[in-house]
Amino acid sequence: MSIFQVKSVDEIMAESHERGHKLPKVLGSFDVTMIGVGAIIGAGIFAMLGEAAVKGGAGPSLIVSIILTAIACGFAALCYAELAAMVPISGSAYTYAYATMGELVAWIIGWDLILEYAIGNVAVAISWAGYFNDLLRSVFGFGVPLWLRMDYNTFLKSGADIASVPHIFGFPVICNLLAVSIVGFLTWILVIGIRESTRFNSIMVIIKLLVLAIFIGVGVYYFNPDNWVPFAPGGWKGIQVGAAYIFFAYIGFDAVSTVAEETRDPQKNMPIGIIGSLIICTIVYVLVTVALTGMMPFTEMKDKIAEPLVAGLQYNHAPRWIVGLISLGAVAANTAVLLVFQMGQPRIFFSMSRDGLLPQYFAKVHAKYKTPHITTIWTGIFVAVFASFFSLDVMAELCNIGTLFAFIVVCAGVVVLRVKDPGRHRPFKVPGGYLMPVLGILFCLFLMLGLGFMTWLRFFIWLAAGLVIYILYGYKNSRLRTGNLVLKPVNRES
Ligand code: ALA
Repeated sequence: MSIFQVKSVDEIMAESHERGHKLPKVLGSFDVTMIGVGAIIGAGIFAMLGEAAVKGGAGPSLIVSIILTAIACGFAALCYAELAAMVPISGSAYTYAYATMGELVAWIIGWDLILEYAIGNVAVAISWAGYFNDLLRSVFGFGVPLWLRMDYNTFLKSGADIASVPHIFGFPVICNLLAVSIVGFLTWILVIGIRESTRFNSIMVIIKLLVLAIFIGVGVYYFNPDNWVPFAPGGWKGIQVGAAYIFFAYIGFDAVSTVAEETRDPQKNMPIGIIGSLIICTIVYVLVTVALTGMMPFTEMKDKIAEPLVAGLQYNHAPRWIVGLISLGAVAANTAVLLVFQMGQPRIFFSMSRDGLLPQYFAKVHAKYKTPHITTIWTGIFVAVFASFFSLDVMAELCNIGTLFAFIVVCAGVVVLRVKDPGRHRPFKVPGGYLMPVLGILFCLFLMLGLGFMTWLRFFIWLAAGLVIYILYGYKNSRLRTGNLVLKPVNRES
């Protein structure tokens, strides 16, 4: 059987009902919307906003960049909603590729999604560690030593003295233990149950929305229209580069589709969760950007570029407790992003394993907690190890390129499935024929081309490594290609 063999939507749906591979349907529309907001608002708004305004040269016109990126993500969100409502399976883009472009493309996209979820989470875990340390400082007056909250290269760049670090067998001990701790804690929550995880996520979402609402209020109070002159110092180019930077802030609405299998009435709730969370976050982002660019000249942000909201407050000599509150909001926001991404990645591995592209060992569901615990624990180990030793910027750019690639495949998937299977019932349909999927592809490609050479190189190396694994394992063990798709009443629970 060809490596381009597609798996029919009916086969995909039937497989998800196999005993031992079945996930319980417990989530409603509120839960999935909260999951989306939980995944979207994080390091992007709390850290990248400064980079986008200053380094990208957008200045106050970042408001336009934010809206442009939202429109681009909107095309992809509509496509995700169509596919997630039609094929409500935990594999997300991976599953849609299997149904539309065949096994090889499905494998490539499944492997690529590791860049979005696991590598994205590495970036967020690193950002979490920075803000958590700030929070400790503002509450208790002390923080964690530098060598326990960053990687080796970032430590060297910070100018800190390496002689002050403990050495073992002559090697300096520098690793991001703070990031490891939060990843370990969240992995445990995710193993004990999806209901517990979503409840925890909702609390984090409420905290971050409240903190951002307070920030917007403070921004209105300090608003000075002079800060908007000139409005677009970098012209259209600045707006475009700002959009490329801020893309990271929007990643996450697609994570909603990874819990489709655990959602009640996914035909209705998937579109609500995906599109609803994107709309909520766009409104929040626009208001926060209006507040920030209105409360200080953007050029003053450059000294505190990684903490732009704190920069705005300090510029206006806002009370210290509000500054502390922003650190709390950033910690809560990053915790929620980590949680949802850490929830999405194992579910994609789970689907790949159920298809035989990864060993069956990974497709186990915990007998008591009913979660894909094996893949959850392995994801936790992977993210923790990478977060200890790698830097934020490299990880964030890799995450961007991987996500954009996945968005392109999903938009293309909508077109392919409409051509191949026009008669299938679509509970939600992207309006306007092929226009929006095609615009989605073009816009994502445009943003991808804006990323640097090294990111492209790392991306290709990653895909090549994935291809080798497919040839050595998936090619021989695929259930579709080996004709092993017959439903068997096996109980693989452990
Ligand atoms: N959108 C997520 C964040 O901003 C990845 O942290």
